[in-house]
Amino acid sequence: QNETVEKIVSLAKRRGFVFQSSEIYGGLNGCWDYGPLGVELLKNIKEEWWKAMTYREDIEGLDAAILMHPRVWEASGHVENFTDPMIDCKQCKARFRVDTLSELISDKNKEKALKEFDPNILSLEGSISEKFEKILDDQNNASKLLEFVSCPQCGNKNTFTQPRKFNLMFKTFLGPVDDAANVIYLRPETAQGIFVNFLNVQNSSRQKLPFGIAQIGKAFRNEINTKNFLFRTREFEQMEMQYFCKPGTDTKHYEEWKERRIEWFKSLGMTPTKLRFHDHPKDKLAHYAKNATDIEYEFPFGWGEIEGIHNRTDFDLSRHQEYSGKSQQYFDDETKEKFIPYIIETSAGASRSFMAFLIDAYYEEEVKGEMRSVLRFHPKLAPIKAAILPLVNKDGMPEIARKIEADLRPFLRIFYDDKGAIGRRYRRMDEVGTPFCITVDTQTLQDQTVTARERDSMEQIRISIDKLLNYLLEKLR
Ligand code: GAP
Repeated sequence: QNETVEKIVSLAKRRGFVFQSSEIYGGLNGCWDYGPLGVELLKNIKEEWWKAMTYREDIEGLDAAILMHPRVWEASGHVENFTDPMIDCKQCKARFRVDTLSELISDKNKEKALKEFDPNILSLEGSISEKFEKILDDQNNASKLLEFVSCPQCGNKNTFTQPRKFNLMFKTFLGPVDDAANVIYLRPETAQGIFVNFLNVQNSSRQKLPFGIAQIGKAFRNEINTKNFLFRTREFEQMEMQYFCKPGTDTKHYEEWKERRIEWFKSLGMTPTKLRFHDHPKDKLAHYAKNATDIEYEFPFGWGEIEGIHNRTDFDLSRHQEYSGKSQQYFDDETKEKFIPYIIETSAGASRSFMAFLIDAYYEEEVKGEMRSVLRFHPKLAPIKAAILPLVNKDGMPEIARKIEADLRPFLRIFYDDKGAIGRRYRRMDEVGTPFCITVDTQTLQDQTVTARERDSMEQIRISIDKLLNYLLEKLR
């Protein structure tokens, strides 16, 4: 399974989708750079999200600052609660998040540890991992179980420190004095920028409930363990929309947004059978949430959340009202009531969606005895929309090809390639997911037609040059 991820990481680097951050200095853990094709794919994902969310009457856009008043994070609960339990290995100094330990340890070792902890547990219902995680979840039992667990890095037993809380927010200082009074945080989610601007947006746009505010932006979390390429990183992008509604209508809007959001992934070609909801059981809900679900994608390493949808009730606005001393109430013109709206949140990771779209698009297949790897991106997401290829680099073909390129460039992201055998050039375009290859050949010189080869079926049609732009625009919609 991880072989697939490794192949994709390698392709991503080789073809300019994603590079390790600061690679020439040995890299920076949990940070990645998007290369020429990656930045296009990421931009296309964000653009499709932006269109789906804000090309509507009831949603406005926003771009709030990354740095916010420190009181925001007290009101939101992040200063107190945005922590993960962490342990260190006293032998090898490796550091682990307690709640992800299970992923790092084999079932055999988990079973051994459980047996030593309490042999009766093994006869209870559920998988080894479930039992293991349940005990680690329980603060009273976690330290005891950890005595029997071998360190995933050095293999030594009984070397862990006591679990302690680690706050995931990155701290920095505002202004030239590095003292406690000047501490501020890099935002760990974009949502708070929306909450604190609720009335600014409502007053300036004259929206009435229900309405939403959408925002795309960077978020930062000092994750203890980063893993799986772009899945859990320290710097990432979120695409969040907060939908403000009247209490009592919240459950209806929650259900509607759930469906809309999973449909969005499907509409961009993500395999429906690899998408599912994971509803949070009531006893696991965050303190502010009435309902919560994750949209999960089946990655090669298992199911993982790509988007969270929460009914956050009036928690956030009430807290900001309390901490800022400014009313966050909405005035309903019709009923003359004043109240704090409920919020339905849709919170997707742009970077994590990027990874899911990339993995979902990746196929290896045999074509005429040769293997080809192909990224079957939805045309709207493909970084390059069409390649222009003169069959040979002579006989007037490059001149025609350059002319076609110049005509298409203002409308589409085009790639021009005149080097090497045509089959090789097709494969290179398949590998980066280019939906169309346009080839200028001998017949072009006679009748002003070219071939258009479609990436997935590899079928070719002949089309006259003057119809090409409309043909492509139609197919790429
Ligand atoms: N405002 C709610 C919120 O931030 P979350 O479940 O913590 O909720 C939402 O994050 C989404 O952000 C996740 O579904 C995931 O796609 C993305 N995300 C969160 N932490 C991430 C990380 N360390 N690396 C990459 N993406 C992350």
